[in-house]
Amino acid sequence: MIDNPPPLISQQELRDRVRELGEEITKDYQGKDTLRVIGALKGCFVFMADLIREIKIPVRVDFMEVSSYGNQAQTSGNVKIIKDLTHDIAGEHVLFTEDIVDTGLTLNFVMEILSQRNPASLEICALLTKPRKMALRFPVKYRGFEIEDYFVVGYGLDYKGYYRNLPYIGKISSPEQLPLFDEKARFS
Ligand code: IMP
Ligand code: MG
Repeated sequence: MIDNPPPLISQQELRDRVRELGEEITKDYQGKDTLRVIGALKGCFVFMADLIREIKIPVRVDFMEVSSYGNQAQTSGNVKIIKDLTHDIAGEHVLFTEDIVDTGLTLNFVMEILSQRNPASLEICALLTKPRKMALRFPVKYRGFEIEDYFVVGYGLDYKGYYRNLPYIGKISSPEQLPLFDEKARFS
């Protein structure tokens, strides 16, 4: 076993902030008949599961998977759709949820695609944002926390597929120094 990374954001802080986000979203979408919450797999699934339970209006979900990092801790620049939505979002109020926005490359790519499908409205909810994000074509309307430029894991976020089950956000200073990760092994 390896040691768990030191916490950057505790379980309690996550819980409190997610509740606030849910309240804000509930207030903003009050009166709209339904909200489609879309999650970017795989990183969003823990955050999104908590978030939708704090939203008090009718919600439907869908998921999308795009690849950006592969197995690296840096954006490759090659963003592509691995799994598309199963529902047509035309005419729907859509809230796209992301685990973390780093360069913003993934987000710009996905939002471009989603906006072309004529949703009634389209907003972004990101649990975390990092400072080096480039000019986002679509602003993050709902943000959990702005963090420093650490590589973080837990609460759905991974390093080579690991740590998604960590209940808090932990920080890893140098991922390449972790003994667990054998470059020859294949993780996603
Ligand atoms: P971007 O395209 O550079 O904004 O990268 C966004 C995606 O990269 C996120 O959806 C995550 O899957 C992944 N990512 C970026 N930073 C981190 C991190 O610190 N830990 C884990 N995954 C990250
Ligand atoms: Mg990831």
